[in-house]
Amino acid sequence: MIVKKSELECVAVRSEQYPGQDKAEIAFAGRSNVGKSSLLNLITGRKKLARVSGNPGKTRTINFYLINDDFRIVDLPGYGYAKVSRSISESWGKMMSDYLENRPNLVRVVQLVDIRHTPSAQDVEMYEYLRHFGLSGIVVATKADKISSNQRQKNISNIRKTLGMSEEEVVVPVSALKKTGQDKLLEEIENAIFEFQGTC
Ligand code: GTP
Ligand code: MG
Repeated sequence: MIVKKSELECVAVRSEQYPGQDKAEIAFAGRSNVGKSSLLNLITGRKKLARVSGNPGKTRTINFYLINDDFRIVDLPGYGYAKVSRSISESWGKMMSDYLENRPNLVRVVQLVDIRHTPSAQDVEMYEYLRHFGLSGIVVATKADKISSNQRQKNISNIRKTLGMSEEEVVVPVSALKKTGQDKLLEEIENAIFEFQGTC
């Protein structure tokens, strides 16, 4: 798939603000700072479509991006940001579950983990949650430029094991810095959307 067109369609914190359910959606989930917004910029080939920041907690809303006038990529706020207050973390949980559990046109959630580290307890919990709702299956290992290619395969095996992934589930290493891995991810996204559209 080639991304020819991408635009921010909608920013939401509540379900009444979501765009229509007419288009398939693929969401990006993961710890704050893992690289969700950078990944969106990478696959759309745009440097500043989504805001990227070294400070965790940059994305605080659910941002819907329309791709090729055909489907949406949804950039979700990250978890595990230690500095947020209890009330913010509760409203974050509600905002996420409202979206993830009640969106009929949500096809798949791409879970992002940092290639350098063993997935955290929260990453594992998130992946199990996604599996429970039938949304798991694609994991992106971000920041692949930060380790050697030798280390990459070892870390990917560790990620697969820690998340309890089955053989048909995929881990795609990407680097937003080196601009690698986006074609493979787009292929997986295209397959997921095709499967979904084929069943409706
Ligand atoms: P929140 O919005 O806080 O949830 O974070 P996010 O997951 O959207 O992360 P974001 O894309 O803002 O990136 C966080 C930091 O990681 C930024 O400083 C990025 O430049 C950096 N980063 C993201 N992807 C890569 C990558 O592939 N390689 C390297 N070296 N740095 C990256
Ligand atoms: Mg972000």
